Amino acid sequence: MENLLSIEHLSKSFTLHNLDKHISAVEDVSLHLKEGEFVGITGKSGSGKSTVLRCIYRTYLPHSGSIWYNSERFGRIDLASATERTIIELRKLEIGYVSQFLNVMPRTTARELVRNAIVEMGHDTDYADIETVKMLEHFELDRSLWDSYPATFSGGEKLRLNIARAMVKRPRLLLLDEPTASLDHGSKLKVKVLIEQLMKEGATMLGIFHDLEFMQHLCDREYQIRDGNIFTSEKKEKLTTS
Ligand SMILES: Nc1ncnc2c1ncn2[C@@H]1O[C@H](COP(=O)(O)OP(=O)(O)O)[C@@H](O)[C@H]1O
Ligand SMILES: [Mg+2]
Repeated sequence: MENLLSIEHLSKSFTLHNLDKHISAVEDVSLHLKEGEFVGITGKSGSGKSTVLRCIYRTYLPHSGSIWYNSERFGRIDLASATERTIIELRKLEIGYVSQFLNVMPRTTARELVRNAIVEMGHDTDYADIETVKMLEHFELDRSLWDSYPATFSGGEKLRLNIARAMVKRPRLLLLDEPTASLDHGSKLKVKVLIEQLMKEGATMLGIFHDLEFMQHLCDREYQIRDGNIFTSEKKEKLTTS
C-alpha cells in the first residue's frame, strides 16, 4: 500500500539566544507510515520524539528535509513547505494531534469545543450535537461540566476532553504525543477502545506513549529515536488488537 506519510531527512534545531546555545533536536530523521498503520516512536526523554510530531503538525517549522503527506484534499504535499493556509485546512479536515496539554480557546465550553471540531469538518449541526454527546459520554466527562469552561477542569478532565475533541473528527492521520500520560487506568482503557475503533475505520496513527506496554498492544511497528538523533526502525510483532 502507498505511504500516507514519508519523512525524509528531517532536521530541526533551536537557538537559545539568551544562552547563546544551539540545540539539535532531531537530525536527519526518515520514517514512513503506510495507510492504516499504527506506528510508535520510542526513546528517552529529550531524544526528539515530540519535535518530530510537532514538525508534522507544523507547530514547528522544520529546518531541512521533507514531510510528504498524501492528502485527500490536496494530493501529495510537503508539510515542511506547505502554506499556513493549507496547514490550517489539513488540521481541520485530515490531521489530528493530541498531547497531554489542552490548548483551549477562552470562553468556549467543553461541549462547544467538541461540537466545533465536528462542525468544521463540514457536518451538519444535528449530527454534531449527537456525536458530541456520544463522545462526552464515552469519556465519562461529568454532565455538570459539559457547559462549563475547561480552564477550571482538573488535569485528567482536560486530557479526556482533549482526546475527545481530536478523535471525534475521525482524522485520517492522528498524532498522539503521550496522550495518556496522566490518566488513570480506566481512562486509559477508554482511549484504547477509541484508538482501536479508529484503526478499524482505517485511520493511520503515529504515537508516542509513556506506557510502553499500552503501546505495544496496539502498534504495528516501532521506530526508536536515540540521543544522537538517529532513527532505527524495528519490525514489531503485533501482539493483539482486542
Ligand atoms: N521550543 C523549543 N525550544 C528549545 N529547545 C527545544 C524546544 N523544543 C524541544 N527542544 C529541545 O529539543 C530536544 C528534543 O526535545 P523533545 O522533542 O521534546 O524530546 P522528547 O519528546 O523525546 O522528550 C530537547 O533537548 C529539548 O530541550
Ligand atoms: Mg516529548
